[in-house]
Amino acid sequence: MSTPSVKIAPSILSADFARLGDEVRAIDEAGCDWVHVDVMDGHFVPNISIGPLIVEAIRPVTKKILDVHLMIAPVDPYLEAFAKAGADIITIHAEAGPHLDRSLQAIRALGKKAGVALNPATPVSAIQHVIDKLDLILIMSVNPGFGGQAFIPEAIAKVSATKALIGDRPIEIEVDGGVDPTNAGALAAAGATALVAGSAVYKGNDPTTYAPRISAIRDAAMEG
Ligand code: DX5
Ligand code: ZN
Repeated sequence: MSTPSVKIAPSILSADFARLGDEVRAIDEAGCDWVHVDVMDGHFVPNISIGPLIVEAIRPVTKKILDVHLMIAPVDPYLEAFAKAGADIITIHAEAGPHLDRSLQAIRALGKKAGVALNPATPVSAIQHVIDKLDLILIMSVNPGFGGQAFIPEAIAKVSATKALIGDRPIEIEVDGGVDPTNAGALAAAGATALVAGSAVYKGNDPTTYAPRISAIRDAAMEG
């Protein structure tokens, strides 16, 4: 049985950027738990999205946790800017640099929750030796770079392996990419505690659809 407290984190990557403040407010009012912010540099991933200025701009719009996913390399020079901009959780990629331990220490020294993301091909063992410096592990269920990609089902087994590695440590397991009500149950049953959803919430950019879509993902997770 899954925990009833799976957090739903809509990704603003699929928001209408021309009305970004309204789009953030809409998912807040629609009952999201976290706001997921995808930062891409056109180098670590083949797409460019947003930077600290946008995080700063949306910070006053919501009191919800800003869950900032940095798909950038190098990452260390930018950690302070995202912290100052108002990120609550800062997640970096295990593949993005040679000094993961140092980067995680830097995030915690800035007073933020520290997360590590693992690409689909990266084994869970990559974080074994930094596990006590982590607040969150992000299992990528697509290759990062774009919203709207198909879910990679191997992520479910990876969530189980992550849960086994964590043991009773208070570390969130988040899953990102192609998440929707058809896979949320299996992910939650495997141990996911937070689910990112971009297109499954924002597709069509009609704010009246956001609350039922968030509920559908949450209900599916709880039934899992
Ligand atoms: C992918 C991003 C995801 C993405 C999710 O690189 O990290 O957060 O926006 O979008 P969907 O849910 O549409 O796969
Ligand atoms: Zn993401």
